[in-house]
Amino acid sequence: MRFLVTAGPTREWIDPIRYISNASSGRMGYEVARQALKRNHTVTLISGPTNLRPPRGVQTIPVETALQMHSAVLQHLPEADALVMTAAVADFRPARKSNRKIKRKSPLNLKLLPNPDILTDAAKIKRPHQIFVGFALEDSINATENALRKLKTKHLDLVVLNTKQTIGAERSTFILITKDKKMQQLECTKRTLAVKIVRFVEEALGCDTT
Ligand code: CTP
Repeated sequence: MRFLVTAGPTREWIDPIRYISNASSGRMGYEVARQALKRNHTVTLISGPTNLRPPRGVQTIPVETALQMHSAVLQHLPEADALVMTAAVADFRPARKSNRKIKRKSPLNLKLLPNPDILTDAAKIKRPHQIFVGFALEDSINATENALRKLKTKHLDLVVLNTKQTIGAERSTFILITKDKKMQQLECTKRTLAVKIVRFVEEALGCDTT
């Protein structure tokens, strides 16, 4: 099977020196890529900037911004059987990038524009056989409700609900929710979760999982 995996944060440049980003390590996506490869799948990894070395044998496409990740995903999606969106895409980007370093003279008002939602746009061209896995990072009491909304609006087959404690951590608590609303709570490492995700995709695609 052909896996398309996204990982890491994106960077949204303010000027040549500064950017807006988040604390994503990229580890989750790299682990999914590694586990899918171990199961003999073909893997394309679209990665924002991380300190991780891509697994050997994985086709890696480095990107920086949400817009670059957006076009890379839409370009590679048609040849994929599964899309696993672990990337922590920055929700906003500066309306314009200054060509020169901005001087600290006076208060700076940054105008931010919302970035496109990559999964929502991918869902518009999703083929019936394709499987989509997304994440929902929630820190509110309506976490499950929000994850279910994301599952539906982003046409996901599986959503992994997690909290901000997961960022940068080796292990965490995850709630897996499938399209048919089955829920499973796991307290495990990102590696174990990656194995689960790959197995879920294999079963959903009806491949031999022995
Ligand atoms: N995602 C995406 N494009 C974006 C933002 C997020 O494709 N611009 C994907 C993420 O990779 C993840 C899922 O959507 O798989 C949910 O991301 P999350 O950050 O939890 O939620 P948002 O959709 O950004 O919504 P909100 O910030 O309102 O919680």
